[in-house]
Order: sequence, then C-alpha cells, then structure tokens
Amino acid sequence: MTTKLGSMFLTVLLASVFAARADAPTTLKGAFQGSFVVGAAVNAAQFTGKDTRGAGIVKEQFNTITPENVLKWEHVHPQLDTYTFDLADQYVAFGEQNHMFIVGHNLVWHNQVPDWVFRDDHGNLLTRDLLLKRMQDHIRTVVGRYKGRIKSWDVVNEALNEDGTLRQSLWLKIIGEDYIAKAFQYAHEADPQAELTYNDYSVENEPKRKGTIALVKNLQAQGIPITSVGVQSHISLTWPSIDQEEATISAFAKLGVKVAISELDIDVLPRAAMQGTADVKTNIKLDPKLNPYADGLPDSVQQALAKRYAELFAVYLKHRDVVTRVTFWGVTDGDSWLNNWPVRGRSSYPLLFDRAGQPKPAFQAVLQTAVPH
Ligand code: XIL
Repeated sequence: MTTKLGSMFLTVLLASVFAARADAPTTLKGAFQGSFVVGAAVNAAQFTGKDTRGAGIVKEQFNTITPENVLKWEHVHPQLDTYTFDLADQYVAFGEQNHMFIVGHNLVWHNQVPDWVFRDDHGNLLTRDLLLKRMQDHIRTVVGRYKGRIKSWDVVNEALNEDGTLRQSLWLKIIGEDYIAKAFQYAHEADPQAELTYNDYSVENEPKRKGTIALVKNLQAQGIPITSVGVQSHISLTWPSIDQEEATISAFAKLGVKVAISELDIDVLPRAAMQGTADVKTNIKLDPKLNPYADGLPDSVQQALAKRYAELFAVYLKHRDVVTRVTFWGVTDGDSWLNNWPVRGRSSYPLLFDRAGQPKPAFQAVLQTAVPH
C-alpha cells in the first residue's frame, strides 16, 4: 500500500516537474507575452537577411524591432531633395513579415543629421520659419510613408542636458523651445494613430528626470499628444540603482504616459566616459586597461551580468501596467555599438547573446524572471 502510494506520488511529482519544464518559456517574446513586447535594434545585415544567424535570432526571440541607424535623418534624407528609403522599406517589410511591432527611430535629433538641414545655400543658418518648414517636410514625408505600419515614433531624441535644461542644439537655437512641440504636432498630423515618444538617456538621474517631467508636462499642457517616454537604458552593472530605476518608471507613470525601455544594454567594461552618458560623439583613446576582456568574459562577470539583468526585468515586470516595451540595443555582443563607443575597438559583452549567437546565462536569468515563483 505504502509503496503503491509512494509510486503514485512519485509519478505525480515527475509529471508536474515535466509539465513545468514543458511550460517554461524558451523565447523572450513568449516569456513576457501579456506584459510587454520585447525587441532589439536591428542593423541592415539582419533585416535584409544577409546575417542569417542574426535574422534567425530576431525572428525567434523578439516581437518588436527598432532600426539601429537606417531611419536617422542622414541615412533617409541625405540631401535636401533626396530621400533614400531603400533600406528603411526593407526594415519595415521585415517587421511586417514577422508580425512585429515596428518602431521608428528617430525624427529630430542633434546627431546623425546633415549640416545642410540648418543652413541656406550660402551656408548661413536658416530662419525659424524655414527650419520649421524643413522639419515639417521631413516628418511628413518619412512618417507619412510608413503611416499605419510604423506604430511608434521616437519623435525627439536627447533634447536635454544632464542638469535637465534644454540642450543648445541648432534646433533649439534656431527655432526656440517650441521645436519639440512642433515636432510632435507634425508627427501626429502625419499619422494620428502612431504612438509618439520622447527618448533620452540618463533620465534615471534626478536632474534630468525632472527636466523630462517638465518637458512632458509642457507638451500635455498644450494638448500635444505624447504617448511615452523612452528610457534608453544604456546602463552599467552599478548604475542606476534599482531604487533609481523604480523611481524613474513611477515618476513617468504619474504623468499618465507609458514607459518604453528603448535601448537597453549593460556595459560590463571599465567606465571610460561620464557615468550614464550615451553621447554618441564621445571618443576616448583605446588603452589596454579599458579593454580587460579581449580574450573572453570571466565567469564572475558573466554571473554578475545575469543577476543584474534579472533584477532589472523584475522591476519592468512589477511595472508592466506602464512599461509597454523592452528593446535591447543590438542582438549579439558582436553587433553592439559598445564595441566602438565610447572607445573604439574594445570587446564588449552587454547583451543576452554572445558573439557566436548563443544565449548567455543572462538570457536564462531574464527568462526565469517571467516564471511565477
Ligand atoms: C548609435 C548606433 O548604435 C551606432 O551604430 C551609431 O554609429 C551611433 O548611434 N542613443 C541613440 C541611438 O538614440 O540612436 C544611438 O545609436 C545610441 C545612443
């Protein structure tokens, strides 16, 4: 009798273990289904399928994509009368074929924008009205082309300084503070259904977070539609703290906007630039001390990365009512911009897939956060 009960118990136990295993998620998009979409910034090799391995990972794991570069002004609109939509079209087609939530990045930024945008034929800075007209033409053309297909636009990127004041970009200098409202208004007119985002880095730091809150409130007070704040999240093993992360998400939630974790990567290399910055113009000289893992990542750091990713995803899940999307800035470590920024030629390990396209311990750790404990 006892043995019979015992063996029944064992059978039930084993069955439940196997059932749990069969249910355990194996993909990021599956694991967080119902909470938020999970994505990656993709490069041209991936979305054209030239990088078959990369394309395969994207299709299997992610349900949203962001273009790493091809929709930036200098790529899509290199000269006044020339738009080059070839790659952008392929990007959008790739997203549609794979039923993904397609993000547009970005419309108005001070980087990767040609200098002619701000000047007349004589090289003089444009007037406010002429620059507004140019900005409107660009937004209307680009957003209009993908109306109803690109579901969410990063309308203005990185308009703030670290202290929360407005960055002295040519957009601000020539147009004035309302260039941000105008950009959102033009984007809304071009595609009234599209979600519109203000996207920036280091908003986890209080001064910049306050500046972002003021920016959002200012748009809302004018009745300008803004859907979400993009918290870029180019972060490290130690910054920001989990408390800072929570406070940031909660502060934006209070404004009634959603939060997109829009460019997530975790730098494990020695810090070469200012904490929290993602200023793409930073360029620091390569020094072997800054590149300690050229021959591979030590297990201790691998584990620390996994733990850090798990802690962050626990926060995103806790705030799933407001966090709508988590997008990694790249697919495998080999693709990451952090191999060349802020120092050229380092070996960086910020993502969930290694240089061979294999999932890292951090991948399993992230999936585990989605399993109810
Ligand atoms: C980076 C790309 O990853 C690089 O390939 C490019 O050379 C420079 O820009 N914040 C942003 C992104 O909003 O567009 C930047 O992407 C990274 C920082």
